[in-house]
Amino acid sequence: MDYFLYKGDELYAEDVCVSKIAEEYGTPCYIYSQQTLERHWQAVEGVFAKHPHRICYAVKANGNLALLKILAGLGASFDIVSGGELARVMAAGADPQKVVFSGVGKTTAEIKQALSVGIGVFNVESLPEIHRINIIAENLGKIASVAVRINPDINANTHPYISTGLSSNKFGIDKNQVLSVYKTIETLPALKAVGIACHIGSQILELTPFEEALSCVLQLVSALKDEGVLLQHVDVGGGLGVCYDAETPPSLEDYAATLLNTLHKQAPYPLELWLEPGRVIVANAAILVAKVEYLKETAHKTFAILDAGMTDLVRPALYHAHHNIIAVKKLKQKEKMMDLVGPVCESSDFLGKSRLLAILPGDYIAVRSVGAYGFSMSSQYNARPRCAEILVHKDKTQSIRRRETIADLLSHEQKQPFVKMQALGNDFVLLDLDDNKEMWSSDKIKQLSHRQEGIGYDQLLTLKRKEGNQFYYRIYNADGGEVEQCGNGARAVALYLALKNKIDSTLELQLLTCNRVMTVKTIGPKRFLVNMGPPDFSPAAIPLQMPLQDQYEIRVDNQIQCFAALSMGNPHAVLRVESIENASVQSIGKAVCLHPCFPRQSNVGFMQIIDRHRLALRVYERAVGETLACGSGACAAAVIALREGDCDSPVTVQLTGGELIIHWQGENTPVWMEGEAECVYEGWV
Ligand code: LLP
Repeated sequence: MDYFLYKGDELYAEDVCVSKIAEEYGTPCYIYSQQTLERHWQAVEGVFAKHPHRICYAVKANGNLALLKILAGLGASFDIVSGGELARVMAAGADPQKVVFSGVGKTTAEIKQALSVGIGVFNVESLPEIHRINIIAENLGKIASVAVRINPDINANTHPYISTGLSSNKFGIDKNQVLSVYKTIETLPALKAVGIACHIGSQILELTPFEEALSCVLQLVSALKDEGVLLQHVDVGGGLGVCYDAETPPSLEDYAATLLNTLHKQAPYPLELWLEPGRVIVANAAILVAKVEYLKETAHKTFAILDAGMTDLVRPALYHAHHNIIAVKKLKQKEKMMDLVGPVCESSDFLGKSRLLAILPGDYIAVRSVGAYGFSMSSQYNARPRCAEILVHKDKTQSIRRRETIADLLSHEQKQPFVKMQALGNDFVLLDLDDNKEMWSSDKIKQLSHRQEGIGYDQLLTLKRKEGNQFYYRIYNADGGEVEQCGNGARAVALYLALKNKIDSTLELQLLTCNRVMTVKTIGPKRFLVNMGPPDFSPAAIPLQMPLQDQYEIRVDNQIQCFAALSMGNPHAVLRVESIENASVQSIGKAVCLHPCFPRQSNVGFMQIIDRHRLALRVYERAVGETLACGSGACAAAVIALREGDCDSPVTVQLTGGELIIHWQGENTPVWMEGEAECVYEGWV
């Protein structure tokens, strides 16, 4: 039973008219009924209630986050087959302990990912996989729980593409090898056998294959018991069929009774029953709504050409699967026999053949029972963006996956030029937004900053010309967050613009950050003077929640820390130390940075005066930790040393990554920072 019913001549999804949803969200679109989903979940859960059990919803049937969240909320466990599905269930807030990882081809990265988040069980399918999991778990210092998926060599009498329990299939471990495999597992230090599993296929319409498979599993459980191997659960997989057309699948009650009777009769000791249903839970919870674009009459038949095709629902093309197709609005006119086809350039692109329907161009049709293996198997073939998914609950609708755009289709292939620059040991990647049309998302900034898996950089800089020598200049940390300014970055962009002949280097360059204008003068082939603006000591500018003073005191770990504070476009606390080598940059830096007196955190400099023109500095930067060099930090420290009479301008600041020369003529005059930059690499990403 589902909640897609006619009210008068109009098809409704729960309490919402389907044509209205189609008009609002466009077609093609999948429309889900939350009450149908919940009802099916509860029906499955209910029939097993009297025996200790676990329903691990097979995410491959439909992995939409909103649906996973609903199921997680109802207490579902999950069966996954990839790192992507693991990420999906985690994003839906599932408890990783309630996740079973199935599949014949788990990669090293996927196993690491699963062990790191602490998934419940691996259903293992071969000896090499078992050894791989053992080694990875050992390296991570973890124990991996495993269940061996057996291949019982049973014919499920279903479509050959979705039959998995025959010895000719790639799945599971031959039932005759299972005992020795468990013996091997016992010898492996980082594995613990907790269960045994099987899954013989999908859309199974008889009970006998399930009964035979479970019986085979239980014989092995007995044989293992004789060998001293005791388990906690049997996992019978998924596979129960649904009615798409005229099929008569077993009822859930009969299915449960068959499994539980077999278990009670043949289990040598009490075992939990685990299941991995996908289709029975979601199949009926969705329709696919498409618009009739054309009616095409040929000498042989009538074709209704839809705006949905095999890219949106591949089951008819791939398995000759039958789905009922109905008109969203019943028309009074006479029905006609027709094939419902899509726009894709394949003769297998059909959703239904020889159907009687009364429809006209512009009308909507609904393909029923597409919740399982519908959207999850959709593709972008023929460069077709994947369609939208809408969830209906009573009289409310919400988009749970926006329709893909043409830009989405192109985004993975369009390469963008970038330049890698270095200044004082910091590396920057520079995106010239006049050449690159697309700004990176914060996720992409974070991902590409990675030194092994990305390009590797401390900060991403972006440039866009405003006019003449004036540019918008923005700075992003490797975590994707934006910062107010970066003097080292300013030299890097100045060098880039000079190298690319994008500016007149005899004139000042003006960089507009999110909160100020920085000017840069070229004084050598790679040497620049950056005007960092005047320092601002007012607590409001920093911001610092204390009354204005030359020195502030806070308590950190029961020790008083004394510092001067100022804004150089971004906040800095400057602490004096006797010995730069012995300064506790990491611990004190972090504590001062995060102290509640700095509501938006602060960079923290540790300064040692060396002589009247030289000081040494180490900086703890917000959101990053200790860095090789911080240009505005060097300015802040030099300003404090000059203001307090310890040094005379210019001051050479010795940082871990190199030296900068700071010029400052006193209150209300700008700080000038002198230093070099280098261009190290140009590439595409
Ligand atoms: N567990 C394992 C290990 C599986 O391989 C599958 C499905 C399931 C559970 C869930 O089976 P279900 O309860 O949904 O039948 N694309 C095909 C179905 C492929 C099924 C693959 N494995 C279709 O559209 O009919």
